[in-house]
Amino acid sequence: MTTAIQTLGASLRKDFPIFSRKVHGKRVVYLDNAATTQKPLSVIEALSRYYSTMNANVHRGIHTLAEEATGAYEGARKAVARFLGARPEEVVFTKNATEAINFVALGWARHRLKRGDAIVLTEMEHHANLVPWILLAREIGLELRYIPIDAEGKLRLETLAKLIDHKVRLVALVHASNVLGTINPVEAVIEEAKKVGAKVLVDAAQSLPHLRVNVRALDCDFLAFSAHKMLGPTGVGVLYGKMDALEETVPVLGGGEMIERVTYDSVTFNQIPWRFEAGTPNIADVIAFLPALAYLESLDSKTSIQHEQNLSQAAIEALERMGFRVLGPKAPNERVGVVSWTSEFAHPHDTATILDQFGVAVRAGHHCAQPLMHKLGLAATTRASFYIYNDMDDVEMLIEALKEVRSYFG
Ligand SMILES: Cc1ncc(COP(=O)(O)O)c(C=O)c1O
Repeated sequence: MTTAIQTLGASLRKDFPIFSRKVHGKRVVYLDNAATTQKPLSVIEALSRYYSTMNANVHRGIHTLAEEATGAYEGARKAVARFLGARPEEVVFTKNATEAINFVALGWARHRLKRGDAIVLTEMEHHANLVPWILLAREIGLELRYIPIDAEGKLRLETLAKLIDHKVRLVALVHASNVLGTINPVEAVIEEAKKVGAKVLVDAAQSLPHLRVNVRALDCDFLAFSAHKMLGPTGVGVLYGKMDALEETVPVLGGGEMIERVTYDSVTFNQIPWRFEAGTPNIADVIAFLPALAYLESLDSKTSIQHEQNLSQAAIEALERMGFRVLGPKAPNERVGVVSWTSEFAHPHDTATILDQFGVAVRAGHHCAQPLMHKLGLAATTRASFYIYNDMDDVEMLIEALKEVRSYFG
């Protein structure tokens, strides 16, 4: 399927009810997509349809509503599996990417790793793929190693062979950086990890919304992402795990749904993946994730990423002309549509506040990556992140509004 680049941007915005509202009397120029994306009407309607036509708990009931709800919930699992190139039983629903990563830390690593083992991360991790490992390292005495980044914010691949030695049991890395925009060559890292038999967890929270990832081809052991960053509802994340990796994983949460047999002093677990989904799951939101995937699948992903890279490139050139310092790789095809910048004259929070007056939503702060910010010698950046429904008019609005920032502070 191919889509012309012209059919993205403004012509998609009509599918998203939020774009009919105004902020400070201006149309919404939403450039905070790395934080969360907007939802198409089909997703909003799916939520309402579930509650108004089939609301029931899943897996338990024998009545019609329960069967329909279960069918829709498991249908969403099949859709996610198809999207990833996985099998449905390899798809575990969580509440977000953060929970999915914590399941690997607490369910797999905590039981399989021992004092002195090493985990390799990168210098550009989001706290979601950092704090769980710091906590675990502290608890069982693990060594954490970091793949360094170069001046452009790219991984220094030449360090891999030395960093990933026989002490390393897990490599956990972000696929696309939420600060730098860098798309990491995860294939090269996976290849190196396999040489020493280490497992690999890919944090795909910022990549899967933009790039199609086939987990089978990638050959990672675990992959985590959040639905809300790819048109889906909040409260839904996914942990993909290869079956042998999931078989080695212990359920972190106990309760209903995840069991096969319980006595007063023993428990056996339900099959994978249900053993990792204790209690009533987020049924409505999981079901409403399906139209989000269908929406993304109706577009050609190569065209979408090209579109986002064109917008980033235009924004980067304009920002640099205005004297802002843009972080991340120079080559547009080495980044997703995430553009962070700093300036001598305006604090990121002041910048974001002024941009908001123009209806332009951006993010300011440390972006949940404090160690990276520290490494870069920065306290905060301003970040614009683009998605399929943005276009050059949005880039122009951003730049026009930034001119005001510059004339105010500059
Ligand atoms: C790279 C990366 N990983 C993980 C996460 C965590 O996602 P969530 O907050 O949905 O769990 C984020 C969120 O911004 C992210 O950017």
